Amino acid sequence: MASKPAVVARGVVKRFGTVVALDGMDLEVQEGTVLGLLGPNGAGKTTMVRILATLLKADAGTAEVAGIDVAKHPNRVRAAIGLTGQYAAVDEYLTGRENVVMVGGLYHLKPAYVRDRADELLDRFGLTDAANRPVKTYSGGMRRRLDLAASLVAKPRILFLDEPTTGLDPRSRMGLWEVIEDLVAEGTTVLLTTQYLEEADQLAERVVVIDRGKVIAAGTSEELKTQVGGDRIEVVVEDPAKLAAAAAALAPISDGASVSDPVERKVSAPVTGGSTVLVDAVRALDEAQVGIADIVLRRPTLDDVFLSLTGHAAEEETQQPDKSNSRRRAR
Ligand SMILES: Nc1ncnc2c1ncn2[C@@H]1O[C@H](COP(=O)(O)OP(=O)(O)OP(=O)(O)O)[C@@H](O)[C@H]1O
Ligand SMILES: [Mg+2]
Repeated sequence: MASKPAVVARGVVKRFGTVVALDGMDLEVQEGTVLGLLGPNGAGKTTMVRILATLLKADAGTAEVAGIDVAKHPNRVRAAIGLTGQYAAVDEYLTGRENVVMVGGLYHLKPAYVRDRADELLDRFGLTDAANRPVKTYSGGMRRRLDLAASLVAKPRILFLDEPTTGLDPRSRMGLWEVIEDLVAEGTTVLLTTQYLEEADQLAERVVVIDRGKVIAAGTSEELKTQVGGDRIEVVVEDPAKLAAAAAALAPISDGASVSDPVERKVSAPVTGGSTVLVDAVRALDEAQVGIADIVLRRPTLDDVFLSLTGHAAEEETQQPDKSNSRRRAR
């Protein structure tokens, strides 16, 4: 892994009136890697990204992007970065393709290159059929995808993506992940904000969790999950008399003591190794002749991370934890 930081922030403070949006944020992104900035609504993700992208001035602290001080030389920083905002910023009256090509023009890229790259990106985001229609006829999700395509046309050295997959369907989400992986393979540094541990898991080498404008945890997503207790296998047995046998069968494949709940006929045991452990568990229970009513591998969600780190849930929109990870933000 490269060791030179592409982004460094130290003690960044930002207030909006009486609201302290950033309360001494520290951040470092190594060159050529993806950092996931994870946090609930209002944590300060967008504010941090806007400061790094020179769209907002910090009240205190320092930040450097590509080795350049964002407050002293905003124009030089802008030349090195690409930014996708949380809300799509595209021209309504141009077609999808014209929007992407126009952005390429702003970066002074060769027209032939821009045309090829535009086609490639429009295809990646499923917009080929709509490419020649004015954007005012696009749906919200289509605008979002177009905004992403436009921001990626120039292959910036450092890319800021603010909740890039919010509101995207699964296919476009995967398309974006592929584009990001390609860019990183070519050396781009990415700072990505998200509310989904799953997404940070997929893309980011390192994850920084923030809450109320402060870093509350940092590490790989594996480290964070382990910190909150890691994965657990939960088995519901058919016959409550077999609970002890189930616990004994799971013991060799689990990392620690299991917990049995006679009322729910459930045994829960800590494990590592992902879904292969599930197969091992089914086999072990089968050999012990324990009938299985239900078996799941429960992975920690962002909600679990928050609950464990802060003692409070990740606020409004997480009141009903959704294990499928498919929940979307309301706006
Ligand atoms: N222009 C502004 N004026 C006043 N308050 C603001 C402004 N921008 C942000 N805030 C406040 O600063 C805090 C951090 O907001 P920010 O948008 O950075 O959060 P976020 O982590 O991006 O949230 P979300 O997940 O909802 O996008 C919030 O309390 C927000 O209300
Ligand atoms: Mg935001």
